[in-house]
Amino acid sequence: MYHFQLVPSIYEFEKFHEFAERFNISPEDVIFTEKLFYERYIKDKVQCRFIFLDDYGLGEPSDLVIDKILKDIRGQEIKRIIGIGGGTILDITKLLCIKDASSTEEIFESKIPLVRDKELILIPTTCGTGSEVTCVSVVDITKKKTKIGKRIDANFADSAVLIEELLDSIPENVFTYSSADALIHAMEIFVARTGNPYNDVFCKEAIKIILSNYRKLVKNGLEERFKYIREFLRAATFAGIALSNTTCGAVHALSMHFGSVHNVPHGESNVRFFMGVFKKYAELAPEGKLLELSRIINEALEIDTDLLGSFQALEEIINHLIPRKRLREYGVKAENIEHYVDKVIETQQRLLVNNYVELSRDDLISIYRSVY
Ligand SMILES: [Fe+2]
Repeated sequence: MYHFQLVPSIYEFEKFHEFAERFNISPEDVIFTEKLFYERYIKDKVQCRFIFLDDYGLGEPSDLVIDKILKDIRGQEIKRIIGIGGGTILDITKLLCIKDASSTEEIFESKIPLVRDKELILIPTTCGTGSEVTCVSVVDITKKKTKIGKRIDANFADSAVLIEELLDSIPENVFTYSSADALIHAMEIFVARTGNPYNDVFCKEAIKIILSNYRKLVKNGLEERFKYIREFLRAATFAGIALSNTTCGAVHALSMHFGSVHNVPHGESNVRFFMGVFKKYAELAPEGKLLELSRIINEALEIDTDLLGSFQALEEIINHLIPRKRLREYGVKAENIEHYVDKVIETQQRLLVNNYVELSRDDLISIYRSVY
């Protein structure tokens, strides 16, 4: 049995004002964003209300931040909420749409009916998470000391809007980490045990777009990223469409816990586990979807080699664009690795069930050590 769905309407615009006009933004609407984007792209183009994440503290937002925002908007008449930002902003915007919610805990533990009473529009400013087309929110749950993803079916956006202009000054590291996150979504889902032929179409295309353009950037320098930004933005949404149907696997599972404990942003922490996991897959089961994946990589990079050769070429490209950093450099202690893995097994089953092949506790420890 296969089930595939694509819920939001998808729009592409070149400029923010084209979106504002088409969607007729009015004072009944609320935009949730960061001041940086407001100043640079939004302020003179719409008449509506704003909530700025910056007003709720800096750093990676947690459930505590969301609780404060929920408290502030309670009782307000809001017709539409428009989230404009990276994955975190979009994930939070989804939660702000839930009817009568007063805390993250209430939502994550389904203590209230998870229904929406506002229209939801999501606009990404990075080319990575695909959050604009999924109904999942990933939140750092302070009490549990880990990030947890919650799927809420009501939280598919009404519209996912891609606006090229919003990425016209995306910093180099935000670009590399977010596009690598999209690549990892596409690769993890392509080989996932609950994958399906419909996802495969979107995953393949995302992998091809990202890797063929990475190849050009390795050759010509990252300053050229703006030339291909629309393609990267689209590739992230393609991967997001797959992600809205199937969850990722071990790379994300390991990264969620590590990122939360060591305060490392999502894309960056994924990159640290990426090749460790795929090389382990190649060691355990060099067959089936993994061989297909190798063919896609070879085609995108215009090389002709075997599975290990493709992974090697992929790793070289990633290392070229994103300087390598070992987990010990983030403060991970060798003696804690087993405990970290146990925490991953305890809290990330939602993702681990989707590994290409089953990974035992020992396999996960060996992956951890390979990137330590
Ligand atoms: Fe991700």
